Amino acid sequence: MIFSKTRLIFILICALAYEISASQTLSPKNKGTKKKSAEKTDKKPSKERLGPQKYSVFDKNFVSQEVTAKDIVNNHRAFFTETDEYNFDGLVLGYVTPWNNHGYDIGKIFGNKFTHISPVWLQVRRKGPKKYEVTGTHDIDKQWVVDVRNAGRERKTKIVPRVLFDGWTGKDYTELFNNPKERLSLSKTLIESCKKHKFDGFVIEVWSQIAGAVNPDSLVELIRDISDLFTVEGLDFILVVPPKRNADLFTSKQFDALYDYVTAFSLMTYDFADPTRPGPNAPINWIEDTISAISLNETRRKKILMGLNFYGNDYTANGGGPIVGHEYIKILEQFPELSFTYVDKVAEHLFEYKDKDGINHLVFYPTLYSILQRLELAHKLKVGVSIWEIGQGLDYFYDLL
Ligand SMILES: *[C@@H]1O[C@H](CO)[C@@H](O)[C@H](O)[C@H]1NC(C)=O
Repeated sequence: MIFSKTRLIFILICALAYEISASQTLSPKNKGTKKKSAEKTDKKPSKERLGPQKYSVFDKNFVSQEVTAKDIVNNHRAFFTETDEYNFDGLVLGYVTPWNNHGYDIGKIFGNKFTHISPVWLQVRRKGPKKYEVTGTHDIDKQWVVDVRNAGRERKTKIVPRVLFDGWTGKDYTELFNNPKERLSLSKTLIESCKKHKFDGFVIEVWSQIAGAVNPDSLVELIRDISDLFTVEGLDFILVVPPKRNADLFTSKQFDALYDYVTAFSLMTYDFADPTRPGPNAPINWIEDTISAISLNETRRKKILMGLNFYGNDYTANGGGPIVGHEYIKILEQFPELSFTYVDKVAEHLFEYKDKDGINHLVFYPTLYSILQRLELAHKLKVGVSIWEIGQGLDYFYDLL
């Protein structure tokens, strides 16, 4: 049942994409791109680490609607050697998770392309009345923090670990909302931890978990209470907020109420689709609608960090799920002849393959071209970006930033 829906979606988008590519192959710009891709495929395949090169993905015309598995496999490990140069002017936040540790290298190599790096290390827990604790500190890697800061020479890359409200009961939240002293204890615990480990601030993840269950005004008040203390200490305070969905958990009213209190809003514009509704991860029109609904004021929008997924999804009739860069490359290596379709309406590439057990798969994963469309949108809307997460992408993506 689900699969036939997938099929249907796939056929629909294929038809759509076909119309678009048919009308565009006539333009001279595309002819040029085609010639270049012929040159690219002549290169002998190489599995070894390419690393820093004298060319960027722009010099080689890799940023194209027309992509092939071979080109991606052969080139994704190369990146432009001038890693200090950056192309995107707004705020750029990159998340790093310990379970995809390639992100640690990315942070060190491309530090200057980020204004903020957020390692996903910490949780905050309520241990009892007015007693809070920051856990996960064993994951803190001091030398790496120093290395990333040094890599961000010009931009003075800030390290702002994400702190997740973890293991909280309904009662814990009730106490917090009803008692200003609880809020003060929580804020102090967070500040002390931040200063003790010499971080530049925190990314706070609490909104999505409880926004549906509490009065939005209380939530705004809570965030203001905590962020006030961060401001006093000169620390950055970035709030993770959910995108527009069926329920509107974060509105323009709340954005305006918090605007003066936070450094930025990390807007999770990804996971539009899921295994029960296979499709593009983050349709570009949905991203634009979500941002416009939060604020029409271009000055204020500088604080919105548009979420960019650097992971993809591999769907089957039984569900499937997220895939990261190396898993995606493995598929491309196995099926070098598979063909990509670009769906203009959502600005994402997709492809289909049949695995050795005869099971059909439908894959969405970002490409240089799809990412560039989103960076251009971010530039147009005057917002920043936040990437989930930098260990899951391909090395040559960073030439775009
Ligand atoms: C946009 O936001 C800025 C910064 O808060 C404010 O100064 C300005 O008045 C706003 N403009 C409009 C049209 O509301």
